[in-house]
Amino acid sequence: MLLHIPALFEKDEVRRIREALEQADWADGKITAGYQSAKAKHNLQLPEGQPLTKEIGAAMLERLWKNPLFMSAALPHKVFPPLLNCYTAGGSFDFHIDNAVRQPKGSIERVRTDLSATLFFSEPEDYDGGELEIQDTYGTQRVKLPAGDMVLYPGTSLHKVNAVTRGARYASFFWTQSLVREDSQRALLFEMDGAIQQLTRDLPDHPSLIRLTGTYHNLLRRWVEV
Ligand code: NI
Repeated sequence: MLLHIPALFEKDEVRRIREALEQADWADGKITAGYQSAKAKHNLQLPEGQPLTKEIGAAMLERLWKNPLFMSAALPHKVFPPLLNCYTAGGSFDFHIDNAVRQPKGSIERVRTDLSATLFFSEPEDYDGGELEIQDTYGTQRVKLPAGDMVLYPGTSLHKVNAVTRGARYASFFWTQSLVREDSQRALLFEMDGAIQQLTRDLPDHPSLIRLTGTYHNLLRRWVEV
């Protein structure tokens, strides 16, 4: 399941973040790439421990844990601290699948990468190229979202970032370990949760809502890993 989560940050917040990123000290993106993906990866990245990385990451996590769409779709258990990257001057990242397990720097806790996410900090008209291309069962999806918006997609997907041929593309990316490992099971729960929410708005007093909500939780209980 590929999901667009709009407006995690307002436009003035995005502008402030982007201005800070434009001044930042960037390093080669190969620092967090595995052996194979280092050959495919041509971009810049902010080092994990840098104060700006931590500050933006913390602001993102605060928004994410309050976002009903993210909570319902990702059913997050653990989130890898968000990282920041910049594609410019022909920078690209060829097709790859992200590593299955990540360990944040200086942490003993590991995160299984069930879901990948990209939050855009540059407006689409400020750069050419830079689409995130994700291969899924419906074909190739091309994603280039307004600044402040995020895309969530299965960590199992083959994906790439097209070369940026004009301007700069600033973004954050991170991984989520879900309470429910399987994408298909998460998709079912997301669909059911959405329908229950809609029914709650339309027919708030319908007695079947209690049974439906109970069934949602019983399915979740069957699949959950904590
Ligand atoms: Ni990737």
